[in-house]
Amino acid sequence: MKKKVAIVGAGVWGRTHAFLYKEHPEVELVAICDQNIEKAEKFADQFSIPRVFVDHSTMLDELDFDAVSIVTPDFAHGAIVVDCANARKDILVEKPIATTREDLIRISEAVSENNVRIMTDLHNRWSPPFAVAKQMLDNGELGSPVSAYFRLNDVLWVATDMLPWSSKSSILWFLGSHSVDTLRWFFGDEVETVYSVSSSGVLKNLGLDTTDIYQTILTFRNGCIASMENSWITPNTNPCVNDIKFNFTGSKGMVNLDLSNNQMIECFTQNESKHPDVLVNHFVHGKAKGFAYESIRHFIDCLVTGDEFLIKLDDAINTSLVVLSILESAEKSIPVKVEYFNSD
Ligand SMILES: NC(=O)c1ccc[n+]([C@@H]2O[C@H](COP(=O)([O-])OP(=O)(O)OC[C@H]3O[C@@H](n4cnc5c(N)ncnc54)[C@H](O)[C@@H]3O)[C@@H](O)[C@H]2O)c1
Repeated sequence: MKKKVAIVGAGVWGRTHAFLYKEHPEVELVAICDQNIEKAEKFADQFSIPRVFVDHSTMLDELDFDAVSIVTPDFAHGAIVVDCANARKDILVEKPIATTREDLIRISEAVSENNVRIMTDLHNRWSPPFAVAKQMLDNGELGSPVSAYFRLNDVLWVATDMLPWSSKSSILWFLGSHSVDTLRWFFGDEVETVYSVSSSGVLKNLGLDTTDIYQTILTFRNGCIASMENSWITPNTNPCVNDIKFNFTGSKGMVNLDLSNNQMIECFTQNESKHPDVLVNHFVHGKAKGFAYESIRHFIDCLVTGDEFLIKLDDAINTSLVVLSILESAEKSIPVKVEYFNSD
């Protein structure tokens, strides 16, 4: 029997989820929920979804289904995750899983009490350059992990135009969660302390009450060290929406990734030059391709087969706990030790 799936959040990234559900032969997209009824109805038309809801609680009360994608703004994940877990739905939630310690505790309890399966879309683990570098580390070519530098920035347009809610989030939630998860994955351990500094002004001058940039030093329990940068003030003319530089040093080798100017395709017209994305999310012969789709495909495959998700609940919760510590560190200008739920 096909798995019945609903989506909460009919925005830009909700569409990314919908493309995958519509493609998969073992899945039926049964409902879309968005607090904005017009957006929900348009979305339902585009993807031929039979039921439309404006409130996830009503959807959970009235409709029988197996799993849900939660694709609301960063700050509006936690409460919906808890309600869906209490309704015994399997869950794919966009990163970050939640943005407050209280919500993280409630999620942890609801997931274990109801024995539901949950994955957070920390999709950088499916990015081919990162995955190949990680394979080299796992094969022993680089020795043991020592340190890393990771810049993951967005162009200004993301904060000013793409996300209507950027002032209510932070580049640390929006991109920093990917950075933290990637570093935890490479180092195979948890972050112990963080020290972060930040700068504001560019976005505030444009009327957006959010920090421009954070630079953070992280120490890990196993002695590894990293520095990471997250900003959303890169000029819009950057060839890629992200400015991505990653350097990883091991005891026997090093890898460098520069993904900011993917120039595999150069396109010049009378008015612009551009370098279209062929790595993250695009279509080939009408099928969704790219690592942003692969993580969602992984969720659906595991939903159907019962296999374990590659991203565990602890990955998502600990990533959010690290981001909360970074925000505290930047606000107080002091190093902060991350307090995990399990102290082992
Ligand atoms: N994996 C990635 O790299 C990636 C990329 C882009 C976005 N995202 C994540 O996806 C999420 C959504 O981003 P987006 O760009 O689609 O935002 P968006 O603003 O385009 O869409 C969000 C939608 O959620 C709806 N909504 C808000 N609160 C709701 C509620 N309580 N109940 C029902 N609907 C509600 C809004 O009306 C809106 O239609 C964010 O968490 C973002 O970080 C992830």
